[in-house]
Amino acid sequence: MKVPATFSQLSSYKITDHTFDAVVVGAGGAGLRAAFGLVEKGFNTAVITKLFPTRSHTVAAQGGINAALGNMEPDDWRWHMYDTVKGSDWLGDQDAIHYMTREAPKAIIELENYGMPFSRTPEGKIYQRAFGGQSYNFGKGGQAHRCCAVADRTGHSLLHTLYGQSLRYDCKYFVEYFALDLIMEGGECVGVIALNLEDGTLHRFRSKNTVLATGGFGRAYFSCTSAHTCTGDGTAMVNRAGLPCSDLEFVQFHPTGIYGAGCLITEGSRGEGGFLVNSEGERFMERYAPVAKDLASRDVVSRAMTIEIREGRGVGPEKDHVFLQLHHLPAEQLALRLPGISETAMIFAGVDVTQDPIPVLPTVHYNMGGVPTNFRGQVITNINGKDKVVPGLYAAGETACASVHGANRLGANSLLDIVVFGRACANTIAEENEPGESIRELSANAGEASIANLDKLRYSDGSISTADLRLKMQKDMQTYAAVFRTGELLEKGCKKLQEDFNLLKDLK
Ligand code: FUM
Repeated sequence: MKVPATFSQLSSYKITDHTFDAVVVGAGGAGLRAAFGLVEKGFNTAVITKLFPTRSHTVAAQGGINAALGNMEPDDWRWHMYDTVKGSDWLGDQDAIHYMTREAPKAIIELENYGMPFSRTPEGKIYQRAFGGQSYNFGKGGQAHRCCAVADRTGHSLLHTLYGQSLRYDCKYFVEYFALDLIMEGGECVGVIALNLEDGTLHRFRSKNTVLATGGFGRAYFSCTSAHTCTGDGTAMVNRAGLPCSDLEFVQFHPTGIYGAGCLITEGSRGEGGFLVNSEGERFMERYAPVAKDLASRDVVSRAMTIEIREGRGVGPEKDHVFLQLHHLPAEQLALRLPGISETAMIFAGVDVTQDPIPVLPTVHYNMGGVPTNFRGQVITNINGKDKVVPGLYAAGETACASVHGANRLGANSLLDIVVFGRACANTIAEENEPGESIRELSANAGEASIANLDKLRYSDGSISTADLRLKMQKDMQTYAAVFRTGELLEKGCKKLQEDFNLLKDLK
């Protein structure tokens, strides 16, 4: 079929135009929090989402959400801030971390008021468990219990709570609409063009404010804890708009993905007293991090596991993974605090956690980098060494990089990030705009290049399938950009990725 080149040739396409005060792309925790924050303030808001909201990847978060509530021992948000700066390998943005950790207790109380069913202490307070890299008194007061949990299904509860709240407001949902590209005019973001996956129609959303909340790009790798839908759509849209992304090389490997399957086994299992063992039955983290042990930060634990395997102390026929032991814990504790991973271990590894250890391996889990923002959620670009806000464009959650995680995120800071910065986007938009403000007309050919690009892919007749090319890229990423990276390995990886990119021209 001949590819139509301009709108005048696109007579077979039905393009529907919409106008909103704000458009939010993505309906996970960050998107929902931004969206109902906007509607609450009177902004006519559209949510464009390729999935039904409660299927978003936020649902898969397990261990919890950090806040210095002090429910278990006295705590202080400044200690949380210190741990987050340190955990980021000192590369996080301290203004943004200051904002996030100071806002954290308020965010949790807000979630509780929305009805989030937190696990409880015997006195009825929100239960807080130990998590990696958390300490009291600026690292001098021992392991902190700061991670507010709903058993090991915290993300599930949070997403359903936020979705329930959002239904109280009049958000306009466009479900199973796939956002293709930002519409940029004169350096400003003026909306989004999207494809309705159900009927193939194209939709232009004109808006003065666009919030990207599209999640991470874990699926650039072969083995990850991320859902198949975590394909970095927002990051790609920003790239195609000619804007920079930051810190994309900072990819977190979670120490305990199930060997082979990649499914997450929460760090909360080590927070509840589980530990890692090698083929000699040794609790090896005691050697690498004598104080924090199995609750050292994730980069430390993942590197230690990889060294154990490389030095021949891995388990299994190929000695290529290690074990996570939980069976020394009381069965009642496993049932109460870790019911989800008990089920996951049985389904995906055939392991009864009350009897046997779980085979685990560091697995791609989180993108610290992404679309650069300031702590108010505004997308920024750097011109001649100076940060400049991109008018009309905001981002929150894993797709964004406010740089609260630097080079390594602490466990349970991501659910915090999504609610704090989702809300920050709504607040900033409300501070700088009025509901119902007039919005300039789009130019006649707005979105045309995006549709031409879509058609080039839809009607291509090359020799490699999209699935095969994706698999090739995923395997190359897994081989050349894993836990340990050398200059030589990365150079090879760049060549491989360039080859993969060139194959885009040959898609069938
Ligand atoms: O281990 C976990 O439960 C993951 C939490 C997180 O990545 O924040």
